[in-house]
Order: sequence, then structure tokens, then C-alpha cells
Amino acid sequence: MENLVIPKSIAIILDGNGRWAEKRNLPRAMGHKAGCEALERTVEDCVRLGVESLTVYAFSTENWKRSALEVGALMKLLRFYMVKLIDVANKNNVRAVMIGDENRFEPDIRKGIKKLVDATSKNTGMTFAFAINYGGRDEIRRAIDHIVDDVASGVVSKEDISEELISSYLDTRGLPDPDLLIRTSGELRVSNFLLWQIAYSEFYITDTLWPDFDKEELLKAIESYSKRQRRFGGR
Ligand code: IPE
Ligand code: IPE
Ligand code: MG
Repeated sequence: MENLVIPKSIAIILDGNGRWAEKRNLPRAMGHKAGCEALERTVEDCVRLGVESLTVYAFSTENWKRSALEVGALMKLLRFYMVKLIDVANKNNVRAVMIGDENRFEPDIRKGIKKLVDATSKNTGMTFAFAINYGGRDEIRRAIDHIVDDVASGVVSKEDISEELISSYLDTRGLPDPDLLIRTSGELRVSNFLLWQIAYSEFYITDTLWPDFDKEELLKAIESYSKRQRRFGGR
């Protein structure tokens, strides 16, 4: 398509791993494994297209409610996959950051997060924000907690509390708000993702299950985005 407008910032709710596996009579964990491969492809495709910032929702603050078996499989995959991501990121000049509350993870996972972030911090290309144990409400709650402390200690005065200041206390500080929000597997909801940041994001929802998401699907989303007329409340 001509006149493809590449969004500066893309956010993805990767959904449908479980259904992908169930359709094949496989354990749900196999869907998550296939989902990791789709994630790796998507990071590389976004780099090649010139996207500046990609944020991917991989584990929510509510996902701990799943069975111990599934949570265990996800943690195992996370341990392995964060090491793999260092290579993927470094090969593609990608800087990785983590958004979400890392405190609920086991110490070795927290070490893994630190390794991934440190090992890629000097890369100058796309930023990849990995949302794990992330919840939009929890992020806002933690930001308020931090602002209240800073007001109490005099670092911030009450009059300073602007939208920009609030943004700067969120996990996504320094990252552009998403221009395009993609959700796979057809669900028409936000499921507690980036509640503050998506105020004016364009939405694209596809029935494709996350493990099947590929460059063609990404281009379809960007084509749709290219036809949107963004107004930001103006006319
Ligand atoms: C998304 O896939 C990955 C996580 C939320 C961890 P799901 O596991 O939600 O897949 P479905 O929605 O059950 O198909
Ligand atoms: C949203 O997917 C969370 C992630 C993709 C990490 P869910 O599968 O958890 O969302 P619901 O439960 O269908 O709303
Ligand atoms: Mg789901």
C-alpha cells in the first residue's frame, strides 16, 4: 500500500496463546511458547519498519489468578526467554525496558530482568517495553503513592501536579504514548493495559491468535492505522 504511515509507537495486547494450543490439543504452555516466537518476529519486524517504540503486554497483574500449572509454565518460559531476548535485542540495536511491578517475581527472575535491561541499555534503536506483572490501575496506584511521598518530602509541590508530572511517575516515563494499539484474538477490551497512555491511541483488533501473528498481520494493522484521521478532540 502506498502512503503507509508508520506509527512511532505501537502497543500490543498479545492474546490467544491458550486458544491456539487448545485448537491443536496441546497444553496451553505450548501456546505460550509459540507466542514467544511470534514476539521475537514482531520485535524484528517493527525494527525493520522503523517503529521507535514497541510495548508488549505479556503478563498482567490479574494473570496470577490462573492455575499454578499455567503460572509455573509462564515463569519458566520467562526465565528462559529473557536470556534469549538479550540476543534478539542486541542483534537489532533494541533497548529493552520492563514495565510493571517486578517485586512479585522470584529473585532470579528479577535478576534476569536487570540483566536484560542492563545488557541492552546502550542500544540506540527501537525501545522495547516488556509489560510483565503489569496492570494499568496498579501502575497508577504506585505512581500516586510515589507522588504523595515526594509531596510530603517537599521534592514536588501540590501545584506541580500536571498531566506531564503524572506521566513522569508512570513506568512508561520517557516513552511516547502508543499511536496504535493492537489486540489479537478478537477480544474487544483493554484488560487493564496502559489505561493512562492510550487516551488517544488508535485501536486495531484482529481475530488472528497471537502465535499466528506475523509481518503480514502487522502490515494490515499499519495499513488500517494509515487511513485513520486522528483528531485529538480538535476538528
Ligand atoms: C495471552 O494468551 C498470554 C497471557 C495472557 C499470559 P492467553 O493465555 O490469554 O490466551 P487465551 O486468551 O486463553 O486464548
Ligand atoms: C490480557 O489478556 C493480558 C495479557 C495479554 C498479558 P487476558 O487473556 O489476561 O485478558 P482477559 O482475561 O481475556 O480480559
Ligand atoms: Mg487471553
